[in-house]
Amino acid sequence: MPMTIQPTDATLGAVITGIELAALNDASWHEIEAAFHEYAVLIFPRQHLSHEEQLAFATRFGEIEILVEGLKTVPISNKSETGDLFEENSHRMQLLRGNEGWHTDSSYMPLSAKASVLSAHVVTRAGGQTEWADARAAYAALDSKTRDRIADLAAYHSYFYSQAKLGHAVAVGSGYGFFDGEPPLRPLVKHHPVTGRPALYIGRHAGKIPGLGDEEAETLLNELLAFTCQPPRLFTQVWQPGDLVVWDNRCVLHRARPYDYREERVMMHTRIRGERASESATNYRAIAASS
Ligand code: OGA
Ligand code: MN
Repeated sequence: MPMTIQPTDATLGAVITGIELAALNDASWHEIEAAFHEYAVLIFPRQHLSHEEQLAFATRFGEIEILVEGLKTVPISNKSETGDLFEENSHRMQLLRGNEGWHTDSSYMPLSAKASVLSAHVVTRAGGQTEWADARAAYAALDSKTRDRIADLAAYHSYFYSQAKLGHAVAVGSGYGFFDGEPPLRPLVKHHPVTGRPALYIGRHAGKIPGLGDEEAETLLNELLAFTCQPPRLFTQVWQPGDLVVWDNRCVLHRARPYDYREERVMMHTRIRGERASESATNYRAIAASS
C-alpha cells in the first residue's frame, strides 16, 4: 500500500497512512521529513509502536532530549509508578494539568525542543484529546501594526511562572527538576531553521518582556495566544490506542484537553532536542556556543 499524506482542514497537520513506522525505509523517511516541514504536525493512526520503535522513529528527527534521568521515552500519565492514580492536588497532577495550557515543549530550558513524539496507550472514554495551533499561520495573519510592535520583542520563559499562574507554587531551588537559572529569553518571532518561515513563539511559559511593564506584557501575550489558537489554525486529535503524532515545537503550540482524572490515561512521549544554532535562548547563546 503506498503512503498517503492527507492534509487536515486546518492550516497545519496531515494524516499519514499506508506506512509502517516500525519498518521505515530511507525513501519513506525523506517523504515524512518533507511533510513534517510543510504540515508541522503529522498524525500516524494505529501504529502500536513499542517504546523502542518509538525511540527509533524519534531519533530520525535528531538527538533525544532527556526529561527523566535514564529514560528516553517517558510516560505522560495520571497513573503513578506504583499503579495508583495521582491524588487530585499532588505535585504530579499539577504538572499534568499544566499541559492543558497552550505551550511549546522545553521553551523554559536554555535549549528549547525541536520536536516531540507522542503516542496513545490507554485512552479515556471522553476528553483527553490533544490540540495543536499553527503559530506560522498566526504570524502570517497578523496585521502589520502588530508585526511591527512585536518585531524586536522577546519574552522570558519559565516553568515556575506558568505553574504559579495555575496556583501551583514551587519554590526555586526546591529540587523538583525545573530549570532554575535565569529564565531563557526568546524572541516573540521565531524563524524556522529549515523553512525560514516566521512563527509566533509564545505559550504559557512566556511571561515578562524586557521593555514592557508586567501587565502590558501579559496582555500582549494573552492577545497573541488567543489569536493563534483559533480556527483555521487548530487541529484536535481524538486518540485511539496505538495512534502516534509528531510535531514541530519550533512553530506550533499544543495542549492536552481535560478528562475525568479518575480514569487512567497513558501516553508515551519522546522529545527531540533543539539545535544549538537555532534553539538556544538569547541569554544562553554564549554558553551554548562553548559547550
Ligand atoms: C506533551 C504534552 C499533551 C497531552 O506530551 O508534551 O503536552 O495531551 N502532551 O498529553
Ligand atoms: Mn507538551
